[in-house]
Order: sequence, then structure tokens, then C-alpha cells
Amino acid sequence: MAKAAITGTGHFLPDNVVTNDDLAKLFETSDEWIQQRTGIRERRFVDFTKEPMGASDLGARAASKAIESAGLAKEDIDLILYATLSPDLGFPGDGVLVQAKLDMPAGVPAMDIRNQCSGFLYGLSTANAFIRSGVYKNILLIGAEVHSTGLDFSDRGRDVAVLFGDGAAAVVLSAVPDEDPRGIIDVTIHADGRFSDALQLAYPSSAEMPRVTVEKIQEGAHYPQMNGKLVFKNAVTRMPEALMTLLARHELKTSDIDLLIPHQANLRIAEMVQKRLELSSDQVFNNIMHYGNTTAASIPLALDEAIAADKIQPGGLLAFAAFGAGFTWGAALVRL
Ligand code: UT7
Repeated sequence: MAKAAITGTGHFLPDNVVTNDDLAKLFETSDEWIQQRTGIRERRFVDFTKEPMGASDLGARAASKAIESAGLAKEDIDLILYATLSPDLGFPGDGVLVQAKLDMPAGVPAMDIRNQCSGFLYGLSTANAFIRSGVYKNILLIGAEVHSTGLDFSDRGRDVAVLFGDGAAAVVLSAVPDEDPRGIIDVTIHADGRFSDALQLAYPSSAEMPRVTVEKIQEGAHYPQMNGKLVFKNAVTRMPEALMTLLARHELKTSDIDLLIPHQANLRIAEMVQKRLELSSDQVFNNIMHYGNTTAASIPLALDEAIAADKIQPGGLLAFAAFGAGFTWGAALVRL
């Protein structure tokens, strides 16, 4: 039986660096507050005044790099999986937009995943199942977001606006024989929809006609709303819990982990997860300081950077953990 291995990685970020001081010119906040509460120093935003750029434009560029890094041609990809909470359009999904932008062959399926900060792990789980069951051999998994065009840059939205950044990253997952040392060991994904209103973007809504009104826009109802403390509390519980379940299932210990890449939501969340798992700082990779929360892109973006910086070697045991809106969460163990 084949198993799925990560055979290529790539990322793409807009050039435009936005510092905390830049945000402090737009609304009541400070570099000190943002760094203390989140660890974020700067993030990237697309510059829509120069060139319109949707998540699929970032995603397509990241995907090209991942395919090249896997030593494959775009014709080798059997399935496109695309995770985002900020698609270019209401429909169709960004997966088909990337397919067209990269001139990938017609007929290849493209599937969008709507699981926010856990989107990459939901995609990894889907790719793993398709490869293990022999349906597909090479799967392109993209996580891409343009948050900046949808944030409330006024005092009203400051709790959310300081957290997010734009960016994209992708991996290629390929079938390898069972005896190959590389491969996904396991992925676990979860959801609890009772918390759907703890972090959500409510408008436009198909439950209303018209789906959004001028009044709703004036109220700011088309911007994300978040109960930050509730999200924080659940994130620091669910991520270690999911990872511990996987480790136990495979008779592994936290000391066996060579590198944990937690979803980059808040440096304080990542540090608390590290503490709860009793991991050393060398065992955890964070880059939120430079990019903020890039949601579906955050884990593959950190993975691509960690590989480039030699933080993880071929054969090393990688752990991923994510938590986000839904609530959704999950974890994965992967031999690189
Ligand atoms: O992947 C999932 C995505 N989301 C998350 O993971 C978010 C998880 N939550 C968090 O990261 C944190 O809850 C935040 C960083 C959002 C907020 O940190 P906090 O320590 O929970 O602060 P708070 O919400 O309790 O706010 C403390 C104070 C408030 O003022 P008062 O009521 O004490 O006077 C806020 O109004 O900080 C104020 N505040 C700000 N001040 C300056 C909120 N946002 C800002 C801001 N700048 N941007």
C-alpha cells in the first residue's frame, strides 16, 4: 500500500511590509500592545492600489514553487486542494482559478476547503486518504489568504485587524512505497460547531435577502467578529490535546518530536502549547513575528521557511497543530 509524503514546498508573500507603527496611524493601538499580546512585529499586505491581487494570485505563485521543488511538472498533479477563508469570489472556488492561472490540464479536479486556520490540516487529511486509497498519486495542497482587503482598520476592528496578514504556501503530496522512511504518519481533524459565532464573518449571508445591505456595511457586519479570549482558551487546550492523542496512538513521546509547527495565531498561544507539551524552544518553529496570522497558509509557510533554515532535516519527525474558527482543530505527525 502507498503512503503520502511531502515531496515539495513553496511559498509566496506580497512585498509590502506593514509594521505595527503603520497600523497605529490608522487606529488606536501601539507597537508595544501588539507585540506584548501577540508577538507580531509586522505582516505583509497586498498593495491593491498598485495591482489587484486575490488569494488565488498568491496561491498560484506558491503552487508553482511547490511543484518545482517536488521535481514535478504541473501535468503530473492529479488533484488540487485549496484551503482559504478569503476566496477571490463567492463562487467558483479558488482551486479552479489557480488551475486556470497555472494553465494546468483541463479535467484535473479542484476542491476548495473551508476550515479557516485548520484548513491546511483538513487538506492534509484529505490528501492522505486519497493517496492511501490509491485514488491519486500527486496532490497539490495550497493554503492562501488575502485578509487585508477585508479587515476593519478603525478602532472598532482593532482587536482583529492587528492579527492577520496576507500570504500563500503550498505543498505537494506524493505516493511513496510503504518502506520509504518519509510520509504522513497520521492526521487527526475535529470540529465543534457550537462555537461558530466565536469567530466569524457573518455577511454576505445566504440567510438574508439581500445578502448584505448598506446598513449592515455601515455597522461593520461584513468584517470578521471575534471573541478573542474564548478562542485563545480553546486553542491552548485543543492543540496539545490533538497532538497528544496522535503521539499516544503511535507510541511516541513529545521528546521524539524534532520540530513542532503550531498554527501561527498568536505567539503567546504557541508558547503556551510548547509549555503544555514540555517542548524545548529548539523543538518549535514560529514566524508569526514577521507575517501575523496567515490562516490556511500559516503551517505550510512556516514549514517552507523551517526547511530552508535547516530547522528540520530529511528523516526528522514533524508535528503540526492547528486551531481556528468553527471551532475546528487538528494535528499531524509527518516524517520528512
Ligand atoms: O487562529 C484563530 C484566530 N484568532 C486567535 O487565535 C485569537 C486568539 N485571541 C487572542 O490572540 C487575544 O485574545 C487577542 C490578542 C485578540 C487579545 O488579547 P487579550 O489579552 O485577550 O486582550 P483583550 O481582548 O482582553 O483586551 C484587553 C484590552 C481591552 O481594553 P480594556 O477593555 O482592558 O480597556 C481592549 O479594548 O486591550 C484592548 N485592545 C487593544 N488595545 C490596543 C484590543 N485590541 C487592541 C489593540 N490595540 N489592537
